[in-house]
Amino acid sequence: MSTDTESFPAEDRASRYARVLLASSSNSWDIERHVFRGRALSFSRKFLPDGLTLLDRLDFLQPHETRLLSQLQGRTYAATFGLVERVIGATALLQAQGHVQGDQAAVECLVRFANDELKHQELFRRLERMMHAGMPAGYAVVAAPDAFARAVLGRSAWSLLALACHIELLAQAHYEQAFAPRYDICPLYHDVFKFHARDERQHALLDEVEWTAEHTHLSAAERDAAVIDFIALLTTLSDLLLAQSQADTRYFLQAVGRSFTPLEARRVASTVLAASRWQFIVSGMQHVHFRRLLSSMTTAEQCARIMAALQPVMQA
Ligand SMILES: [Fe+2]
Ligand SMILES: [Fe+2]
Repeated sequence: MSTDTESFPAEDRASRYARVLLASSSNSWDIERHVFRGRALSFSRKFLPDGLTLLDRLDFLQPHETRLLSQLQGRTYAATFGLVERVIGATALLQAQGHVQGDQAAVECLVRFANDELKHQELFRRLERMMHAGMPAGYAVVAAPDAFARAVLGRSAWSLLALACHIELLAQAHYEQAFAPRYDICPLYHDVFKFHARDERQHALLDEVEWTAEHTHLSAAERDAAVIDFIALLTTLSDLLLAQSQADTRYFLQAVGRSFTPLEARRVASTVLAASRWQFIVSGMQHVHFRRLLSSMTTAEQCARIMAALQPVMQA
């Protein structure tokens, strides 16, 4: 571990902004024209791919029950991205504000980034309306978006950029490792995350530039406070995942319409929780590039503190 961040020299930052602008222009896509294309969701197929659901742990479920649970997990997966990306978009706007008197390519990149996240929120809202229409009644998202945003946006820029980088790297990894190889899942659900991952690739490049630049401006004490903030953000996210997994388990057990033994019900609850922790915390914290960045911007003691705070989540 080192406190010597691999901050980008000014010319490298400029070339990265230029690269992202070029990619952003050539990757532009439209929700209806490129993603939905008039299609409906295929409720005869799974939504979330097996690599993200951990459903092989629930060998007592019938195939149609496993499919319903993957659809429920897919519904919450999209809803959770919607919540978190609202915060990430706001973070991009706050960063853009810091560049208004300087690099205009940086401003343009970050404003486009925030605009992408607004589009992604609309993408996930449209998906939610389709899932609402096609799935049993009773599903609820536990977190209120405004309250969640208020709870996290007061944290330091360093910690918000660290969270953004974590989420955007894991989103790409999920698509490449879990979605891309699986063409047996619902094609529309698959395509939502295919197009989403295209933008996340550019966003992660920007997060890295902004995060490392922010790091160089902070004193040792401010960096330590930022690490405390980052732990608080991950804890807020972890609490949200716990509450949502409990609500999802209740929904699933009711929607399936048959009785389970207490042990089976507990196994459903623990698997749904472990899968959501894997999706939004563990897979990001284990991402090689994220680990490298985090290590370059924390001391060994700070990094150990982050991992100790996450230990119960990482173990699950
Ligand atoms: Fe996004
Ligand atoms: Fe993003």
